[in-house]
Amino acid sequence: MPAVGRYRKAMSARVLYVIACAAPPTSDVARLVSLGQQRGWDVCVLTTPSGRRFADVAALAELTGHPVRSEYKNPGEPDVLPPADAIIVAPATVNTINKWAAGICDTLALGILVEAIGRGLPVVAVPFSNRAHAAHPAFTENVARLRSWGVTVLSGPGVLPPHDPGSGDSQLRLFPWQQAIDAIAAAGEISASRG
Ligand SMILES: Cc1cc2nc3c(=O)[nH]c(=O)nc-3n(C[C@H](O)[C@H](O)[C@H](O)COP(=O)(O)O)c2cc1C
Repeated sequence: MPAVGRYRKAMSARVLYVIACAAPPTSDVARLVSLGQQRGWDVCVLTTPSGRRFADVAALAELTGHPVRSEYKNPGEPDVLPPADAIIVAPATVNTINKWAAGICDTLALGILVEAIGRGLPVVAVPFSNRAHAAHPAFTENVARLRSWGVTVLSGPGVLPPHDPGSGDSQLRLFPWQQAIDAIAAAGEISASRG
């Protein structure tokens, strides 16, 4: 696919999907795009349908050279994005984590994430939520389930613990974009060594 944005892709670049959910850090997801591009990835951004409201879609399309997808294509339409070699879900909402672990595919983002487990793709998820939201027992169990299926979930002490309700915007500068891009490189090595 020819590069149409600011970023000129090497034809052989591996493809990283960045999936952004409906939470405040999505407004900063261009930082992750740039970090991925610096590491040589051809980055495509997708959002959940609700997450699109948090994103600067035009700027992300310009930065990546790819349309920002949020909905399933219509039957018979071609794929507009190259297939993914790896995926980072950041920020990952409580909603998407729970639905993903249950195998629900009612958004394009979830369909890709559910398939990614079956395909054995390297996947890193970075949840962002307040303490009350994250304390729901289903969320804790589903993070553990995703980890047991090979997903790298960056959460808890040493990463970005849940914040007090109502304080999400003040946590934005702490969001671990760099750790996410480091983790996808490590997850890719693990998945390659598993064959
Ligand atoms: C302003 C605002 C901020 C929100 N912040 C978060 C958040 O930080 N974490 C979270 O899990 N959900 C948050 N939500 C709730 C999600 O947007 C909601 O659960 C939504 O259905 C998630 O959709 P998605 O998982 O398809 O992206 C927020 C909602 C709004 C309106």
